[in-house]
Amino acid sequence: MDSKNLTRRAFLAASTGTIAAVATSRVPLYANAGKEAGKLAMLGGKPVRAKAWPAWPQWDRSAEEHVLSILRSGNWYRGQGNTVTEFEGEYAKLLGAKRCVCTVNGTNALLTALHVLDVGVGDEVIVSPYTFIATYNVVLNSSALPVFADTDPETFQINPDKIEERITERTRAILPVHILGLPANMDKIMAIAKKHNLVVIEDACQAWMAEWRGRKIGTIGNLGCFSFQNSKHLPIGEGGAVIGNDEELMDRVMSFHNCGRPYGSVKNTSGYPIIGTNRRMTEYQAAIGLSQIKRLEKDTQRRNENARYLTSRIKDIPGIIPHKLYEGVTRAAYHLYPFRYKKEQFNNAPRSKFLAALEAEGVPCSGGYGPQYRDGLIEEALTSKNFTRSFPKERLDKYRQELNFPDNEQLCEEAVWFTQNLLLGPKQDMDDIANAILKIYENRDKLA
Ligand SMILES: Cc1ncc(COP(=O)(O)O)c(C=O)c1O
Repeated sequence: MDSKNLTRRAFLAASTGTIAAVATSRVPLYANAGKEAGKLAMLGGKPVRAKAWPAWPQWDRSAEEHVLSILRSGNWYRGQGNTVTEFEGEYAKLLGAKRCVCTVNGTNALLTALHVLDVGVGDEVIVSPYTFIATYNVVLNSSALPVFADTDPETFQINPDKIEERITERTRAILPVHILGLPANMDKIMAIAKKHNLVVIEDACQAWMAEWRGRKIGTIGNLGCFSFQNSKHLPIGEGGAVIGNDEELMDRVMSFHNCGRPYGSVKNTSGYPIIGTNRRMTEYQAAIGLSQIKRLEKDTQRRNENARYLTSRIKDIPGIIPHKLYEGVTRAAYHLYPFRYKKEQFNNAPRSKFLAALEAEGVPCSGGYGPQYRDGLIEEALTSKNFTRSFPKERLDKYRQELNFPDNEQLCEEAVWFTQNLLLGPKQDMDDIANAILKIYENRDKLA
């Protein structure tokens, strides 16, 4: 059936499942819209949603006293208190990891993990092109080459079936990013890593409390890294963590992030037994973290419930392709809620028009990441003294030729994201989102 030519009534009648359910549910299609119901807000109609969305970050008063007492004590550095240690213990317990070391942010958690796993000059790291730029940066800053494996557009994750073909004799690690808080395929990634003797560092900077077959994301690879930046589900403003189960490795993480001072199995010699840096979290940051940890489980449940419901509401709208979760995902984090927009079903209106229409209906949205490997940073690295000395010219030439990821590029053109705070309200908020999309679909002839 050509859905482009369906009238709304015919579409609702012809559809089974969700859209049909919408038609008969007690939720009016445009609850707020009154007379102007059908007219797009971007063309002067009344928006589907006029109310504000849940704000982020959210906090209660529990952190205030704690932060204030630390402030008044003057003991702000972790060496003078136990708040960072307490937060590390709580976070490790929550995720079922043996150990956690907090860092200044997620970027530095990843840099630390790469360093202690001996990923460095002349190495290659397999990574998804579809990620926040920090994932590229940490590999480049470690003097290693980020070798991209194309994206699986259905799940928005690294395509596990495209990883093996990217492995060379220089490959040292796989860095799966659980992007948008949706888990990557850890069964396949761990099997490939084992077969090729590679280490796995999970970039879980968007995936707090997500699970793969009941295990928390971040606990499956050799090390897992998290971000606690302002927009994140456990927000501290800035902050990060490395988690792991290998005691000796975690001793090295602790020592390295603390100027190389001895710790556990990193035994004292003359004071500084290993190379180090300073990536320590402060005491008052950890106090905020401790108060934020309390809401994480409840918020995660709410985001998952709302995401499931939203998917059920939009999955039958022509041209709207909700994300898929791999079969092994027992829980997602939903830092973002993504779907793909197929303009062919929307009168060929470009995604930018759809996004503008959705914004006008009162639903904040974005198109997400672009093909960032085309931005300047990769070429800057490839032409740098560092890289030209540590990689043969033939390797860098071949790398340049292979910077072409059709599935990723298509995804970058089609993705639509909602930020996590939109999933924190009542179910009716999801109806607003779905109704706004449906309204745009019905008015698609006025979009282009
Ligand atoms: C996927 C991913 N990796 C790494 C980072 C870096 O974390 P931070 O901003 O805390 O340095 C982020 C943060 O946005 C992220 O989303």
